[in-house]
Amino acid sequence: MENFETIAVRTQAERTGFQEHSVPLYLTSSYVFEDAEEMRASFAEEKERNIYSRFTNPNTSEFVEKIAKMEGAEAGYAFATGMSAVFSTLATLLDSDDHIISARAVFGSTHSLFTKFFPKWNISHSYFNVNEVDKIESLIKPETKVIFAETPTNPGVDILDLEELGRIAKKHDLLLVIDNCFATPYLQNPIKFGADLVIHSATKLIDGQGRVLGGVTVGSGELIREIYLFSRNTGPALSPFNAWVLSKSLETLAVRLDRHCENALKVAEFLETENNAENVKYPFLKSHPQYEIAKKQMKQGGNIVSFEIRGGIEAGRKFIDKLELCSRSANLGDTRTIVTHPASTTHSKLSKEELAAAGISEGLVRVSVGLESVEDIIKDLKNALNN
Ligand SMILES: Cc1ncc(COP(=O)(O)O)c(C=O)c1O
Repeated sequence: MENFETIAVRTQAERTGFQEHSVPLYLTSSYVFEDAEEMRASFAEEKERNIYSRFTNPNTSEFVEKIAKMEGAEAGYAFATGMSAVFSTLATLLDSDDHIISARAVFGSTHSLFTKFFPKWNISHSYFNVNEVDKIESLIKPETKVIFAETPTNPGVDILDLEELGRIAKKHDLLLVIDNCFATPYLQNPIKFGADLVIHSATKLIDGQGRVLGGVTVGSGELIREIYLFSRNTGPALSPFNAWVLSKSLETLAVRLDRHCENALKVAEFLETENNAENVKYPFLKSHPQYEIAKKQMKQGGNIVSFEIRGGIEAGRKFIDKLELCSRSANLGDTRTIVTHPASTTHSKLSKEELAAAGISEGLVRVSVGLESVEDIIKDLKNALNN
């Protein structure tokens, strides 16, 4: 197997007759056939080739091949967004009356999928708390098919033990699906620990520059074949332009992530010294409750730091207003540092009890540490915390 950086740079769509060095953008909806026989054989899948860009396209295939190699997976399919990857993957795997077990701390739209939309098809769920992986087995029912989790979690930056999740899934013959968005394939490979499918919102660190939306699911050839058939007919395909951007972005993922992680650790260490910041959480801080697990399964700690600001919702809003360099925005994983206060924004519709159950305190602040000078990021945070 090639090294990560070489996969990132050298996995390329086949060169055309122009002998281009950098992969061109294939903006084409469909492909032509030599004759009726070739067309028949292609549709019958006797011949592997591009037919229509909702199925495959050279740019999306290149992007998928890179992510699959990086994650140690056999195959994959690329989606228009991270959420279409989550939805299409689970909709492929689950039938009506099936049951899914998930960590309670999942991205807001994934939570909505489980609580508002899957019940339309009688698909039910049970949640476990991030620190209660040992309770999963007691939640398993005859109709349980999937265990789903994110690690690190959004926005609480908690860590789930992938090896333990893999062991439980295997023992009970369940599929383990991991949303690996916060770690990226550079920092963590869930398949090594027993995951069957790995999902990414490529919108975040994979693009890394806040430009395009995208998603991808990778896993065994057999499972991806099912996901491909579902998706080729339902139409959540990634656009060739976005695939081209994302594949280029992957070329620099390792170098970008090295700096993101270095900056994030420095920001976390700074926050630990601040009186107005409590419960600073970063996977590679020794004080993180799951530090040992993070060290076992992640190469570095990622770029997200969370902390609680003394003074609850009002203090959180004031802190956000005082920021001058850091962006007030809903995205994460950008070159630009982004600060969010979930209780007054993304999670403002949740009651106090619901917030607590999701592990979100009123003062919780999430920092997606960017690639600006870390001295400048810290100066901005210090100023906003103390004025
Ligand atoms: C962990 C996680 N999964 C999935 C998504 C959804 O991704 P997208 O916005 O690309 O649909 C997000 C978005 O923030 C996320 O943070």
